[in-house]
Amino acid sequence: MQNYQRLIAAADVPAGKAVRVQVDGRCFVVCNDAGKFYVTDCTCPHAGGPLGGADVRDGNIICPVHYWPWNLETGLTDESMPALRLRTYPCDLRDGHVFADISAASPRPGQDLDCHSQ
Ligand code: FES
Repeated sequence: MQNYQRLIAAADVPAGKAVRVQVDGRCFVVCNDAGKFYVTDCTCPHAGGPLGGADVRDGNIICPVHYWPWNLETGLTDESMPALRLRTYPCDLRDGHVFADISAASPRPGQDLDCHSQ
């Protein structure tokens, strides 16, 4: 069952950045990659680095601890390590706000995340 929740106004997520939000006691980051929005978990799956405030570029969020790039479409940092994946969530823009289905499991690599540009 889908559970789309409003996370943040798109205008509050600067281009090239990830902003931490909390919904239903859970933590997420909303990423703005040149006007395309993504939603992921707020901690890095490598060693728990905090992703709020991280840089976002070229379809990746860059963990500030070890600077590994995590692909915002697949959640992977390296195709050869499929078990190490940043959880991502389907998201949508509605009336200038970013919504995400926080009940959804990470999609398989290559699956459309249904995010929309602003
Ligand atoms: S903790 Fe994020 S790359 Fe190591």
